[in-house]
Amino acid sequence: MRSLALISVASAFFASALATALPDLDNLPALTGFAPLNITMISDEGSLEKRQPGGVNLCRDINWANCGYAKQPFNLCIQLDSPWWHSISAIGPDQYNAIVAYEDYNCGSSARLAIFNPGYPNLVPAGWNDRIGSFRVLQISGPTCVLLYGTAWKKEATGDLVLKALKAGFRGIDTAAQPRHYNETLVGAGIKEAISKGIIQTKFTPVSGQDLHNMPYDPKAPLDEQVHASVASSLAHFIFEDPANAYIDSLVLHSPPSDHFSDLLKVWKALETYVPHRIRQLGISNTDLHVVSRLCNSPDVGVRPAVVQNRFYPATRWETDLRAYCRIQRIAFQTFWTLSGNPELLRSAPVQKLAESATISAPVALYALVLGLEGTTILDGTKSEAHMAEDLRVTEVVDGFAQSEGGRASWVACLDEFKALIGEAE
Ligand SMILES: NC(=O)c1ccc[n+]([C@@H]2O[C@H](COP(=O)([O-])OP(=O)(O)OC[C@H]3O[C@@H](n4cnc5c(N)ncnc54)[C@H](OP(=O)(O)O)[C@@H]3O)[C@@H](O)[C@H]2O)c1
Repeated sequence: MRSLALISVASAFFASALATALPDLDNLPALTGFAPLNITMISDEGSLEKRQPGGVNLCRDINWANCGYAKQPFNLCIQLDSPWWHSISAIGPDQYNAIVAYEDYNCGSSARLAIFNPGYPNLVPAGWNDRIGSFRVLQISGPTCVLLYGTAWKKEATGDLVLKALKAGFRGIDTAAQPRHYNETLVGAGIKEAISKGIIQTKFTPVSGQDLHNMPYDPKAPLDEQVHASVASSLAHFIFEDPANAYIDSLVLHSPPSDHFSDLLKVWKALETYVPHRIRQLGISNTDLHVVSRLCNSPDVGVRPAVVQNRFYPATRWETDLRAYCRIQRIAFQTFWTLSGNPELLRSAPVQKLAESATISAPVALYALVLGLEGTTILDGTKSEAHMAEDLRVTEVVDGFAQSEGGRASWVACLDEFKALIGEAE
């Protein structure tokens, strides 16, 4: 199996970042002991918003219903007793944590499932409903969790830039089956050269977003056939080992195909047929709160979105409402236009103050504050190797400076001021 670097493929979508590799199920660190589950039932959904080291959300019903929240020491085998034993239907770790779930009581069975934030709102498609008997939590850190390398508009340089980004430390790549703006073939070639293991996210792009002379499906075909042709072309670009086992970590619907929810449902149902074996999770881009909540609540939807990928800019008030909804629903929110759409924020007082106190550039300070909003991942489209290295320093700010004795007060003050500036409610 591939180990995890995150590659998001957009059929014209999400990934997260790693300094240390995400857990290789065949090479896990030794367990430090065993403990029973000590869990608090969740009454207030808003309490799910904060990330915590070791934080795990466990639910007895799908779609995050009937849940408890537990903060666990790393690498201890948490043994489940009644009423949790073989009764978990949704599970997710907080950001920067991963869970390895086991079928037996002692974290010893060969049937294991690696789970990353935001997790599984429904374990049925993964074949793990009511199967978890024990689990352990691992800490993951570094750039893969927060910055994805964006591959739009890089043309012939795409392969080379992907290789450079992976060498610089990016482990999440965003692309799309949309030759008009992305070169998925060269993304595949770049990854193939740089890594043999990775997380891949791509997108299905409806006809409206495609160049009619250069696209991965017949625009006159019915919607479900368009989806199947696009997914087949994406899978072909990401075969690194056995073609029979090729898969994409995350596939994002680039935009709703029309204003009719019924059309969106047709595309979504076609995409659902690939989850979990060929596509690990689904997402949606260029959309709004109304559509996302319909997708989350429709009885016709079997696989809820794990990712929303939207512009982060003033015209949508930086999506404060949609992002709040996503945090509660444990949907990762991926921002784009983070730098190019925000010249004023780049010049703003909290960004400038953070840049000065943490001795980083204004773009990195803005990235850090966006990550400070919680539940966010950033797509970074730089073409410059120097900017790649600079941008990846964002994790030093969020994980280091912001937690340090000397930096904490300044970080909190800048973040509060930044939130006030974009209208983020506390
Ligand atoms: N779902 C969608 O519809 C959609 C739409 C647009 C984009 N995307 C995705 O998002 C990715 C990013 O695109 P974007 O439009 O959001 O671009 P962006 O990241 O907002 O802007 C990239 C720009 O920021 C500059 N930059 C990056 N780091 C910098 C630094 N440290 N200092 C100064 N400048 C810096 C880059 O210049 P240099 O090259 O000189 O570093 C480039 O001009 C795309 O590649 C694509 O994967 C998705």
